[in-house]
Amino acid sequence: MFSRFKKDMPPGARPTMGTAPAAASTTTTTAAAARAAPVQAAVQQRPPAEAIVADKEKKRKERLTELKVEIHKRLLEDLNLSALESASEQQLRTEISSLATEALDDMSVALNKDDRLALTQELYDEVMGLGPLEPLLKDETINDILVNGPKRIFIERAGKLELSDVTFRDERHLLRIIDKIVSAVGRRVDESNPYCDARLMDGSRFNCMIPPIAVDGSLVSIRKFKKDKLKIEDLVRFGAFTEEMAAYLQAAVSCRLNIIVSGGTGSGKTTTLNALSSFIDNHERVLTIEDTAELQLQQVHVGRMESRPANVEGKGAVTQRDCLRNALRMRPDRIIVGETRGEEVIDMLQAMNTGHDGSMTTIHANNPRDAVSRLENMVAMSGIEMPLKAMRSQIASAVNLFVQASRLQDGTRRMTSVTEITGMEGDVISMQEVFRFERLGVEPSGKIIGRFNATGIRSSYSDRFRQWGFDLPASIYEPIV
Ligand SMILES: Nc1ncnc2c1ncn2[C@@H]1O[C@H](COP(=O)(O)OP(=O)(O)OP(=O)(O)O)[C@@H](O)[C@H]1O
Ligand SMILES: [Mg+2]
Repeated sequence: MFSRFKKDMPPGARPTMGTAPAAASTTTTTAAAARAAPVQAAVQQRPPAEAIVADKEKKRKERLTELKVEIHKRLLEDLNLSALESASEQQLRTEISSLATEALDDMSVALNKDDRLALTQELYDEVMGLGPLEPLLKDETINDILVNGPKRIFIERAGKLELSDVTFRDERHLLRIIDKIVSAVGRRVDESNPYCDARLMDGSRFNCMIPPIAVDGSLVSIRKFKKDKLKIEDLVRFGAFTEEMAAYLQAAVSCRLNIIVSGGTGSGKTTTLNALSSFIDNHERVLTIEDTAELQLQQVHVGRMESRPANVEGKGAVTQRDCLRNALRMRPDRIIVGETRGEEVIDMLQAMNTGHDGSMTTIHANNPRDAVSRLENMVAMSGIEMPLKAMRSQIASAVNLFVQASRLQDGTRRMTSVTEITGMEGDVISMQEVFRFERLGVEPSGKIIGRFNATGIRSSYSDRFRQWGFDLPASIYEPIV
């Protein structure tokens, strides 16, 4: 068979495989052992039918894995990798399938159609994609993929973590896939640099840490990129907040309040920020700054920036703070920072205080009060010496609203609090909660029973809302009793 994807190799150059004879010798020994055993004992010890089926299935899978390893090795030897780049997906699939058939024939292995198709697909994923991770990446119902060493891959579906049946062959296999991911973005992980943050080709966020820092095998976490981000309507439909709260948030964003979405890891901060951004007017110039570009703004006038870590020589880092400082010179109407977690907090607060109102960011905190403390800590850690009261009054005049995102124990994500900053009382920042999620109990299934409620306090921005044309009915602030 001639193929432009196949390396030229003289006939007989490949060493003959040992698989078939080895298999034959195992069979002979087993057969001899079986003959020697008394028939009666064999009948008595026969396992139940389901166990036999399960055992057969296990053996079949093991055999398929062995075959895959062998054929994969061959493919890497045979494929002309430079020609692959210009090939279409269909050409590649055909090629891999025919090389696999050839290898199976060589090994005198016969597979049924389904196994053959599955094998070709896995080989394709192995050569062109991210191996065992590939089907998980393609599965739209999966949000997160969390790898704890080669044999334990967890997935998050609908807010719940579950162990998947996908595994890597061994740590080396996992490391090879990690290497493939990080080298594609010009990074490297090794002993001296054992962790890395990166973005996959499809936009998914990727983080890894390899041994010996990761004790039981490499740790990988992938936050899948969703092409169709959840919109306000979706979030209302999923029960993340109510229509009334959505109307309030629309007014808040349109009237250019400075908003901070606070929440824990994976609580839906970025999703909420992205959904809130849909209320920004199409004529505004919005600049976004993120460590990993996840936001997808729908406006026409959007400039996206992504910070960059230092390269292997420790040079070339561009921090969020660098981007933010530069963004201020780019005549933005609003600035959105994906997550404020360090020294950029100073520039963010200053931007919010100096004419870029309507700016938004997220921070890691468990409730709005906690979010204020986090802001204070970040300011203190950035090395700026400022009396506490001055720092607080800067925060109080910069931030208008906290939106709290939470992931509840039952896996649901909800906006558990909408809290306004109303100013300072003495040394303390005064805040008022306008909406909250009230927990009422737990169903036997673990599902949390609760409802969203207004606190009865009217927004302190009501006049501003009205002046900007958002006449929210007073009823949205009335609590259900
Ligand atoms: N209300 C919701 N209902 C269902 N799924 C949601 C909801 N909000 C977010 N998600 C999903 O949860 C996952 C995590 O959301 P997101 O990335 O917004 O969280 P995050 O708080 O920004 O996480 P991180 O702390 O890792 O940055 C995403 O896959 C997202 O699609
Ligand atoms: Mg996020």
